[in-house]
Amino acid sequence: MPAFKNINDFAKSKKDKLPISMVTCYDYGFARLVEQTDIDVILVGDSLGNVVAGYDSTIPVTVDQMIYHTGIVRRGAPSKFLVCDLPFMSYHVSVENSLRNAGRIMKESGCHAVKLEGGEDFVPVVSALVKASIPVMGHLGLTPQSVHKLGGYSVQGRDEDKRKVMIRDAKMLEEAGAFSLVLEMVPEDLAKEITESISIPTIGIGGGRYCDGQVLVINDLLGMNESFTPKFLKKFADLSSIVRGALNDYNSEVKSGTFPAENNVFKSEKKDEPGKVYSK
Ligand code: KIV
Repeated sequence: MPAFKNINDFAKSKKDKLPISMVTCYDYGFARLVEQTDIDVILVGDSLGNVVAGYDSTIPVTVDQMIYHTGIVRRGAPSKFLVCDLPFMSYHVSVENSLRNAGRIMKESGCHAVKLEGGEDFVPVVSALVKASIPVMGHLGLTPQSVHKLGGYSVQGRDEDKRKVMIRDAKMLEEAGAFSLVLEMVPEDLAKEITESISIPTIGIGGGRYCDGQVLVINDLLGMNESFTPKFLKKFADLSSIVRGALNDYNSEVKSGTFPAENNVFKSEKKDEPGKVYSK
């Protein structure tokens, strides 16, 4: 399937049973790398609160920070379908306030869609955003903005009541016009049931094998945080060791005087230089 251009590509992926790949991204360097891959969708997640800013939750993240990071990612990955998280309290106060915040994010960041956490309570917001031509991705299961209400970062929907509520919420989000739905840390059989009961694609993170797509946090899948090892995560690289190794090599070479070497220095006579970027 060619690169995702709009929300119709999500529906097409589900219809054609082609799994959707989504990855978070927060900065220009990684965005440029994602741009050179076949990843379908980039999410500028409010997980940037944890991953980039070092907070212990996503709660402190602001609309301005989301706009700043999403604009950066837009410039690094101009061809990718881009989703921006609505941060905590940007869509909780009123429908009007939600429209203003989401509208600002769309206008100022260059994203194609927004994502918000929650079910029934947020259906009026989802409907209003969709009516205002702002595509909405839903998010059920573990909703990190509600960490204090949930009592921690744990699997959601294991008991029968919560299971029923989640299935009902998924259907309500679909009816309200959401074009896709993230399912975070949900038992595989529940994610499967939801995936089969709605026509919009589900995108799992800890949602198992039967979701219509998968999403991971880029830093996690690249192995940049050794102490973060949830069951759902597969580390596709070990960047922690690579980066540490490179930094230690640099340090050793500075200390031993092997860096800079002959080919890293500028000469008064410009013609002696290889003449690449920064050759003045
Ligand atoms: O903020 C985020 O990165 C997310 C993903 C985990 C889905 O919401």
